[in-house]
Amino acid sequence: MSEEQFKNVIAHCKEYGFVFQSSEIYDGLSAVYDYGHNGTELKKNIREYWWKSMVQMHQNIVGIDAAIFMHPKTWKASGHIDGFNDPMIDNKDSKKRYRADVLLEEYQEKIRIKMDKEVEKAAIRFGAGFNENMFRQTNPNVLRNAEKSAYIDKVLKESMESGDLARIKVLIEELEIVCPVSGSRNWTEVRQFNLMYSTQMSALDGESELYLRPETAQGIFVNFLNVQKSGRMKIPFGIAQTGKAFRNEIVARQFIMRMKEFEQMEMQFFVRPGTEMEWFRYWKDARLKWHLSLGTDPKNYRYHDHVKLAHYANAAVDIEYDFPFGFKEVEGIHSRTDFDLKQHEEFSGKKLRYFDPEVNESYIPYVVETSIGLDRMFLVQMCAALHEETLEGGETRSVLKLHPAIAPVKAAILPLVKKDGLAEKAEKIFDDLKLDHPVYFEEKDAIGKRYRRQDAIGTPICITVDYDSMENEDVTIRYRDSMRQERIKIAALPDLMNKEVSMKDLLMG
Ligand code: GAP
Repeated sequence: MSEEQFKNVIAHCKEYGFVFQSSEIYDGLSAVYDYGHNGTELKKNIREYWWKSMVQMHQNIVGIDAAIFMHPKTWKASGHIDGFNDPMIDNKDSKKRYRADVLLEEYQEKIRIKMDKEVEKAAIRFGAGFNENMFRQTNPNVLRNAEKSAYIDKVLKESMESGDLARIKVLIEELEIVCPVSGSRNWTEVRQFNLMYSTQMSALDGESELYLRPETAQGIFVNFLNVQKSGRMKIPFGIAQTGKAFRNEIVARQFIMRMKEFEQMEMQFFVRPGTEMEWFRYWKDARLKWHLSLGTDPKNYRYHDHVKLAHYANAAVDIEYDFPFGFKEVEGIHSRTDFDLKQHEEFSGKKLRYFDPEVNESYIPYVVETSIGLDRMFLVQMCAALHEETLEGGETRSVLKLHPAIAPVKAAILPLVKKDGLAEKAEKIFDDLKLDHPVYFEEKDAIGKRYRRQDAIGTPICITVDYDSMENEDVTIRYRDSMRQERIKIAALPDLMNKEVSMKDLLMG
């Protein structure tokens, strides 16, 4: 997908009620967005698919809904007050601020694209006998670029771990990275910025500073024993949660990719120490399968193993999607060891241990976390689904080929004309179907125009009521992707809907 096509996705989101800039009439709020009527349904369906896959499909995973406000000590214990920082750098000419690590990652992405182009050219030159692996291992240009990228990884990892921010600036200068706005290399020093928003809560003894949670995970950790005891959970077991998180993202770009207020869907899986790598591999595999189940082209997904591990992790991998601006993280799977529970034990003075009857021992469980951004997943679905098609006769249509189970509207019921009882018949169908599915009724405009509008919001099925329907009790079904039409009895509609749009097939895998 090109930059141009990405602009189309953003425009489409606005035109068809998926996503709006927040407070747009006041010129908007940077990196904050509102979901419109179709966007809200799509987001709800993605959330529901995640929830059902994680909670409903697993006997040993339960869900909670913790508050956004938490005791401020939570964030001291979790390490967010001291360590949840981004290294920032300013360009003195444009006065723009950037994340230094992102500038380096973008540089690496350019290198990757260069290498891929080199491989593509060679594949054309050598034809059928081309061996891509061999080429990547021997071509001097590809090798030089791969080495450069590995060098960036190494320096970035070492400097982040040692807190040597000056070295990151030197690296940016060494690579001659320029500000995309001013084109200059006139950079400030690199400095750390904490990403948490703070606010005040009145208390009897004065004001106390609170934070808006930057991740939902801590609400799970502090409730670990409450859930384990009240749910009589036995290890291994998981606690899932969806909800808002807040981060003061200084560099906010790329539409809903990096927002200041966003939604996470997280699951902490509590395991016996020593088994965490086995579960890490299990969830790494299971989560990629979940992404692919929605029909997204597997070549647009990849794993990215973390080079620089977060302070709490002993293994971490990202599931990345190939956005128009390159491969970027959609979900992280982290083996968080016993870091969080141990910290909360220390800071709260309360024991957070599990008695394991199988080994007759009490211990602090290890945790494997799966953490996906709902808004990013939404963006993946919009990017993957939006197609501009040229039809026979040269006419074009915008069609959103979402998996039917997550489409905002499952079927549109369209009387061919308003008169002669057709609208009433269509309304009766609408009333019957609405009990089980989100359906839509529309009687205005020519039928072709109505089909196009439904294509654009991803409605998988259009049900047209015409004069024959009055005689034969049947309707025309038109399928979104193929535009194939067939005639079926009105009485058969509930079964057809259940077969075509239900989440059941997705959940059965
Ligand atoms: N509990 C672990 C955690 O929060 P993370 O990698 O910082 O890990 C998890 O965030 C996911 O949340 C990311 O993979 C991404 O999809 C989403 N996410 C993080 N920051 C975001 C932002 N500013 N805007 C939108 N989504 C974001």
